[in-house]
Parts: sequence; C-alpha cells; structure tokens
Amino acid sequence: MSNVISFLNMKGGVGKTTLCKEIGFYLSKNNKKVLLIDVDPQGNLTQSIFEKFNYKHHYETDNEINYKYTVCTSTINKVFEYTSLVDSLKEEECILELNDTLSIIPGDLNTVFFERSNGGSEKENAIKNFIEDFQLKDKYDYILMDCPPTYSFYTTAALLASDFYLSPIHPDSYSILGIDLLFQVVDRLKKVHRDRFKITPLEHLGVIFTNIPREASISTGMRRMIQDIKESSTLNSLEVIFFNEYFHNNPEFPKRIDYFIEDSRSDYSYKNLRTIVKEFDEKINSFKPEESGVR
Ligand SMILES: Nc1ncnc2c1ncn2[C@@H]1O[C@H](COP(=O)(O)OP(=O)(O)O)[C@@H](O)[C@H]1O
Ligand SMILES: [Mg+2]
Repeated sequence: MSNVISFLNMKGGVGKTTLCKEIGFYLSKNNKKVLLIDVDPQGNLTQSIFEKFNYKHHYETDNEINYKYTVCTSTINKVFEYTSLVDSLKEEECILELNDTLSIIPGDLNTVFFERSNGGSEKENAIKNFIEDFQLKDKYDYILMDCPPTYSFYTTAALLASDFYLSPIHPDSYSILGIDLLFQVVDRLKKVHRDRFKITPLEHLGVIFTNIPREASISTGMRRMIQDIKESSTLNSLEVIFFNEYFHNNPEFPKRIDYFIEDSRSDYSYKNLRTIVKEFDEKINSFKPEESGVR
C-alpha cells in the first residue's frame, strides 16, 4: 500500500514544488516506486521533470520540438475529466512513465480553463477515484502531489485523495498566521467531507522550514524567528509538528529547472535531503504502528 502525500501551503514560493520533486526523485533513485502528480495548474513540477527527462507537451511541438525531446500526451486533464469516461480511459493517457521507478501525471496549461468551472464534486473526487479505480496504491510505494497555493478545487481534489499532507514554509513574520490558516482550511475540508475522512484520516506530517542557509551561516535573527514560530502558543495549541531538519539553501535551484540534488555533486545538499527523507518516512510510519518495521 502506498502513502499518498500532498505538499501544501496556501503561500507560493515556499518550496512546495522543489521539495516534492526532490523527495520523489530521491525515493525513486532508492528503488521505491514513485508517482508524482502535478496538481498545480502552473505546472512547475512538470516543467522541471520534462526538462530533466527531455519531454515536451504535445501542444508545444509545433515550433519547439527537436530530436532531443519526446512528445508527451499524458495529462492530468484526463483525470479531471475522468468521471464521464470511466470505461474508456487508459492509464497511460494520464500517467507518463519516466523510468522503472518514477512516473508523473503531468500538469497541463489547459487545466487553467477548468478554474472558471470551479469543478464541482465530480472534479473534487477525480484524483481519489482515479487512484482507487486504477489501484495505484498497489502499484506505487509513494504518490506525491504538488498543490497550488490556493484554496481551490485542485487542493480539495488533492487532499481528498491524500493520507498525509506536509507543509513547507519559509520562516517570516507571517508564518504563524499562515500555518493557522492552513489548519483552518484543512479542518473545514474535513468537516465538509466528513464521510470520506471517516474511512481513512488525513494526517499532518509536519511543517518543514525551507530555503534556510547552511547550518553554520544561519543568522541569529533567523534562528530566533524559527524558535518563535516553533514556540508560538497558537501553533502549540494546534499541536503542529515540525521537521527537525531544515531544507537548506542550494543556489542551483533558482538557476536551473532541471537541477536535482541526487545528480549533483553537492554533498551538503545530498546529506540534507537524505536526512529529510529519513524523517519523512519516520513520520509516516509513526502513524502506522502496526506496520512499523516493515519498511
Ligand atoms: N532549498 C532551496 N534553495 C534555494 N532555492 C530554493 C530552495 N527551495 C526552493 N527554492 C527556490 O525558491 C523558489 C520557489 O520555490 P518553489 O519550490 O517553486 O515554491 P512553491 O512551489 O511553494 O511556489 C524557486 O525559484 C526555487 O528554485
Ligand atoms: Mg509550486
């Protein structure tokens, strides 16, 4: 049975996409079967993966395709349209297999047009139903979803399909309010969809501080900010969990969308990611006492 995890924060630019692709890629390189789902209509996760694995969307082919790229027709749009096409949909119309251990349901610029239609319950349940009907939990060890920074039907669709969510944040003076808001949003969703969450709960894996300077260079101000957030009475009353390990700054990320720590020579970032993934797994397993020791 796989673990389905959403990377969630109502704020943009906090490292959701970067962490999602790095954790996913790391796990896949360590022989775990991983499915990434790009739920954000901005499609940054897809852009990054496509650049690394040399794919282009079919609608980009006219002037951009050359010998280097393979055309991809798989798209998350098919997942969102799925309900009406139950019998005819094929898995590969949605899922692009990149190698033996890594696959992606790519985002699609055309998904933006769904935004106006607001979705409705069919679209909200689409990812969950797709995962169930195609037995994806049996086929993958991890299903990781990159969410947009909005409370939209995309986010609802991701959370309805998830067992866990993880919140990357970059510490600033709005962080406490931001996490509080995030919890309110999830709480509301759990109330509205209470029947769904009676079957399997949606657990918070924790807050992870992102884009933090290397340990030796963290300023006193930054340390104090992180401490204040961790010790805030608001967050303590919500019983917010934090990752011990921070996701440290690596200046390559903003420079190259096809940059992955796993392939690079950065020992520092590699060890950092390895520690994060270890903690990530420990937190997942802590919610499954009966399965501990299996992984
Ligand atoms: N650990 C990091 N070190 C350096 N830059 C980072 C790091 N994590 C994210 N970034 C950069 O910060 C920006 C926002 O990150 P991104 O993952 O796209 O955030 P989100 O998905 O939350 O909007 C991107 O330019 C990304 O390259
Ligand atoms: Mg993003």
